[in-house]
Amino acid sequence: MTPIVAPTPLSRLRRLRRTPQLRALAQENTLSPADMIWPVFVMDGDDHAEPIPSMPGVQRLSIDRAVVAAKEAASLSIPVICLFPYTDSSVKAEFCEEAWNPDNLSNRATRAIKDAVPGIAVMTDVALDPYNANGHDGIVRDGVIVNDETVEALTRMALAQAEAGADILGPSDMMDGRIGAIRTALEENGYQDTAILSYAAKYASSFYGPFRDAVGASGALTGDKKTYQMNPANSDEALRLVARDLSEGADMVMVKPGLPYLDICRRVKDEFGAPTYAYQVSGEYAMIRAAGQQGWINEDAVMMESLMAFKRAGCDGVLSYFAPRVAKILNE
Ligand code: PBG
Repeated sequence: MTPIVAPTPLSRLRRLRRTPQLRALAQENTLSPADMIWPVFVMDGDDHAEPIPSMPGVQRLSIDRAVVAAKEAASLSIPVICLFPYTDSSVKAEFCEEAWNPDNLSNRATRAIKDAVPGIAVMTDVALDPYNANGHDGIVRDGVIVNDETVEALTRMALAQAEAGADILGPSDMMDGRIGAIRTALEENGYQDTAILSYAAKYASSFYGPFRDAVGASGALTGDKKTYQMNPANSDEALRLVARDLSEGADMVMVKPGLPYLDICRRVKDEFGAPTYAYQVSGEYAMIRAAGQQGWINEDAVMMESLMAFKRAGCDGVLSYFAPRVAKILNE
């Protein structure tokens, strides 16, 4: 696009910034509660909530409390709640069998929410880390995260989640070939309408620290995730990953983390035009909250600005721990 700008004073770009009305008319992007996916941490127990120290304002919720949260989300017009299980170390194992237990924490939470809150879509996380004794997203053999065996496990896990009623599956593991394997298994088992939001361009990021605390994986993780998650220095590779996952049957794609990777969001949207989402991850949330708590920034304003930035970068929606707060402000 070649901008046509007359020389000043014929053109004065400030004319359209003069009043709130003119600014509203010229506004290119909007943020609405419908853009939000709310990640929620679930745990065992009854009527219980537990704060996560590195994510002030975010709590792990027992399933009954997660149902209440889902009702709140629906009443705020948030379309999707995304579940992450905080698993007890007693269910973590070398081969992650709990991941495809039809009655594991995540699947029980999905059923409870789908039963009680028809007006919300449930998204689930397809990755082994909450169930893995060593904290990795894949099965480890002789110190190597083995791809194809992990894909088999993820496929079982995905089927159990679809069976529990998940509307959207979110494979966040970064193994090769998992989207095609999961999509084929869903088709073969009568879940042709279950959507896949692939964590297609997921970087090996240091911004995930608080999340790993939240799901109880930080203590367990040995080493790093650099053999499967992307190198933060790469951009073309993200396009190849997105192309690959779309060709294998992903309905939507995600870029993760969010704000530090808006250039990737824009490239992905421009290149493919597919439904594109970003994850404003735990470390991003923690930074905004921490500065807000210190009084160093206007937290609400920074929160809203950070989310609008995703829309400007071409995203169709955002996973954010701020979702209910944002929706409340937008609904006012
Ligand atoms: C793991 C997973 C992670 C996040 C979502 N799913 C962490 C990781 O890859 O180690 C991070 C989310 C966040 O930081 O908010 N499957």
